Amino acid sequence: MVRMGVIASAPAKVILFGEHFVVYGEPSIVLAIDKRAYATVDRRDDKRIHLQSANLGFAGFFEDENFKVEKGDAKEARMRFEAIKLAAEKVMKTCGEDVGLNIEINSTVPVAAGLGSSAAVIVAATAATGSLLKAKMSREDVFRIACETEKVLHGTTSGVDPAISTFGGALLFQMDTGFKPLEVKADIQLVVGDTGVQRSTRVQVEKVRGMMENYPNIFESLQRAAREIVLKAIDIFRVKDLVTLGELMNINHALLYALGVSDESLEWLINASRKAGALGAKLTGAGGGGCMVALAKNERTELVMDAILRAGGRPFIAKKTDEGVKIEHP
Ligand code: PMV
Repeated sequence: MVRMGVIASAPAKVILFGEHFVVYGEPSIVLAIDKRAYATVDRRDDKRIHLQSANLGFAGFFEDENFKVEKGDAKEARMRFEAIKLAAEKVMKTCGEDVGLNIEINSTVPVAAGLGSSAAVIVAATAATGSLLKAKMSREDVFRIACETEKVLHGTTSGVDPAISTFGGALLFQMDTGFKPLEVKADIQLVVGDTGVQRSTRVQVEKVRGMMENYPNIFESLQRAAREIVLKAIDIFRVKDLVTLGELMNINHALLYALGVSDESLEWLINASRKAGALGAKLTGAGGGGCMVALAKNERTELVMDAILRAGGRPFIAKKTDEGVKIEHP
């Protein structure tokens, strides 16, 4: 009999407001979107943790602390797999197990693009391993493990990505107070544009830290402005005022530009979508490439997508999903 293993999935996300400033304790607004990462986990007869990623074209295994690559670049594969292995080990620790595992990742989320693909993968792998080993884990446990693990990949992070991948929906997230589900009345039609430029969250977060250290007073003013944008946006979500929401996105992008995390590839797509009639557009996630997001009225969506395509990006419509981490096959 062929065993299928346990399959879990978790959504990617779009940060609508507050990225980067969230690392310094400010609130942020984030939506889970209808692109998911899937992890299939099964037991092995030996103690190896074997990983493979169909999308990245990597395969290899950890045995004790050694990594052996089977497919792809060894350094890159190890870097991507290390966090997943760590998450699986943390799950094993919670239930007193020490077994070998096959972990297979399949994801429809663009990688290193600001949509939280690594968090979605880690959350899915954590939940699938927990379910396979019958660990008694709540969603909060999955979030905690994914959060601790993500730091290995990205350095100082706020935890916003693992939070939204675990819980789904729309969240107001702040580091010290945690997350609160946010009621979004407006029918938000988001167009995401992928520049195709891969970047590292860690590098962008460090760049912002440099800004904060070199210009503390200026940084503080930008930080205050970012907070005001989020507070205003919370009210706007209740009254379905898309025009104001778009303007707030534009102002938020200007703050991120001031921090130095936009780049030419993002600016092309953002300007193109504004010209095509988007109500607002901004980079999303860490910046330095990756994705931008535009808000458009339904009748303008096609035009905005077309403009992004002509400006060299890969556009797609992102719909909010309420489905957080989920066991697809027990
Ligand atoms: O680009 P992403 O999906 O890794 O998002 C990073 C979001 C930051 O605010 C820049 C960092 C963080 O940990 O919150």
